[in-house]
Amino acid sequence: MKVVVLTGAGISAESGIPTFRGKDGLWKKHDPMKLATPEAFGKNPKLVWEWYDWRRQLIAKAKPNEAHLLLADLEKKIGDFWVVTQNVDGLHQRAGSKKVIELHGNIWKVRCTSCGVEDYDYRAPLPEIPPKCESCGGLLRPGVVWFGESLPIDALQKAFALSQEADIFLVIGTSAQVYPAAELPFIAKNSGAKLIEINPEETPVTPYADISVRKTASEGLKEIIPELL
Ligand code: APR
Repeated sequence: MKVVVLTGAGISAESGIPTFRGKDGLWKKHDPMKLATPEAFGKNPKLVWEWYDWRRQLIAKAKPNEAHLLLADLEKKIGDFWVVTQNVDGLHQRAGSKKVIELHGNIWKVRCTSCGVEDYDYRAPLPEIPPKCESCGGLLRPGVVWFGESLPIDALQKAFALSQEADIFLVIGTSAQVYPAAELPFIAKNSGAKLIEINPEETPVTPYADISVRKTASEGLKEIIPELL
């Protein structure tokens, strides 16, 4: 049985990491067009890096929560199990999940805008803002996908394939507003998967879900795990 899980910012809420669109979400306090687009970075790389450095420090202090750990445990119990995440915090991997597809990149990755070298840089806070490439001195950018940018093609193709093959597709902690990630639950459902949603609030996925649990990620997962084993 193939189980695929699409996660969003809501699964990291219980780790103390703010979501984007909730009542105290990041996009309520900050304008994404000033912080999360290539144009914003081109205009003011220092401002964009100050914001990402703040998020990196927050994430460095955060710990995977029970929901992340439950998914890592399920990967061990269910042979064919994948996490497809929109999150860039790396908490699934820190919880022990091995099979993780990162659709929107990873906040610990940095990429040189001049020579293109990409590497992980876990320093929080960064010693210099904006950080420079060690090989060529060029300006580094966060290794995440910004609005208006295309997703890493290999991750996206793998995520589409997994959604078409899934027997059970879980959607946890996403408002399902941002495409192409938001397409995946519908692809899974239309390909015959059983669709299970876990979210304290309703989303555009809710009407199509076979089971929709109005709970937090950890509480909801504990409730539906018997459906998976
Ligand atoms: N457990 C489960 N879900 C939760 C919890 C929780 N404890 N707390 C909040 N949620 C739900 C909210 O109800 C909401 O539906 O998590 C969802 C978070 O939605 P968003 O903030 O829109 O986050 P996400 O769906 O991941 O955003 C997608 O948008 O800004 C871009 O690139 C960014 O990856 C992000 C993408």
